[in-house]
Amino acid sequence: MSNFSYQNQTLHAESVAITELVATYDSPLYIYSKAEIETNWYTFNDAFGDHPHLVCFAVKANSNLAVLNVLAKIGSGFDVVSRGELERVLAAGGKADRCVFSGVAKTIDEIERALEVGIRCFNVESSSELDRIEQVASRLNVQAPVSIRVNPDVDAKTHPYISTGLKENKFGVDIDDAVNLYQKANDSEHLNVQGLDCHIGSQITDVSPFLDALDKVLALVSQLQSKGIEIAHLDLGGGIGIKYDDEQTIDIATYVSSVLDKVGDLEIILEPGRAIVGNAGVFVTKVEFLKQNSEHSFAIIDGAMNDLLRPAFYNAYHKVLPVNENTKGIDANWDLVGPICETGDFLAKNRKLSLSEGDFLAFMSAGAYGFTMSSNYNSRPRVAEVMVSNNTHTLVRERETIQDLFNKEYIIND
Ligand code: LLP
Repeated sequence: MSNFSYQNQTLHAESVAITELVATYDSPLYIYSKAEIETNWYTFNDAFGDHPHLVCFAVKANSNLAVLNVLAKIGSGFDVVSRGELERVLAAGGKADRCVFSGVAKTIDEIERALEVGIRCFNVESSSELDRIEQVASRLNVQAPVSIRVNPDVDAKTHPYISTGLKENKFGVDIDDAVNLYQKANDSEHLNVQGLDCHIGSQITDVSPFLDALDKVLALVSQLQSKGIEIAHLDLGGGIGIKYDDEQTIDIATYVSSVLDKVGDLEIILEPGRAIVGNAGVFVTKVEFLKQNSEHSFAIIDGAMNDLLRPAFYNAYHKVLPVNENTKGIDANWDLVGPICETGDFLAKNRKLSLSEGDFLAFMSAGAYGFTMSSNYNSRPRVAEVMVSNNTHTLVRERETIQDLFNKEYIIND
């Protein structure tokens, strides 16, 4: 997290003081570091050397146009799961032929649009979806590029809500059923078999489930080859974990080199989201009130679960740093809670901090699944997003206004 550090006892994003950012854009606020996004993408990209590959950023992690634009400019591909994400990528200057389209239930409209703009590949999640893609391609008289997402039945050992590679999960096709589906795709004049896809979960901090899944999909590739079905690329999904605290996680270069040791000449696609943007963003909030009783010390902050859902939803941990390093307030183990009318509205629990009302706090590692999972619950306008590059800062999404909250609503006349 070298792009977020203290300089003269004030937390900075690159070379800009976060105090200056909240003075300019108000609070709460998401702040992204352009340099961190680029560095993280290059860490994946460079690990492949000359081996054919495409690093497709998973747009669901952070779909702000400026973030997508930074990545498009350095040659990133994208993993999209909806028409909305696809249109964002195109609007941000991304190339359709570097996009893979994942997701369990693509609509006819989504398939048509993806074929019209010429996406790189559909990651197909069921037999019915394959039929739907074939029908749309046949009507448009084109060939749809497809991979089948197989479910390798490995335990990613992560939070159950973000584990996707087990038989009990809704994702993908059983590896045993995949051969029939590939046969069907291969026989169709409107489907063009490109690759094989799997994604086993998210925030995975150990490389072994990835390598177990890889062994299983490579066995399937050989089986398909023996039936004359050629697989040109292997898409291994995303899921590489990041450091939220001091946990050990995966070294990307080691992971990629272990993959390359096994895959021969196959082109590799990866779909990292969190590992590219997670540590490239922070969420800054202000302490509104301090409230202590005999049992608990609550700091009520102006950010809430609607702005950063991960703690309430997954009991996720985000490190909290004071924006001014040496402020001296009330020392306690604070629960940092939002103004929303839900007991689950907390952003952190039991944090040893010295706080005063009016202090600013930074929730670290909030660049992935932060803003994208935010909502208007309790009719709270969604917050602004800012991107910093060296010593400059740019508003990359305006704070919503009160009018924005209901400008698409109507009252009935009767
Ligand atoms: N590819 C597919 C097909 C996915 O479903 C996902 C994430 C990714 C790639 C990117 O995974 P990543 O590299 O970011 O781990 N909201 C949760 C995470 C949900 C992940 C869903 N799928 C969180 O805040 O932890």
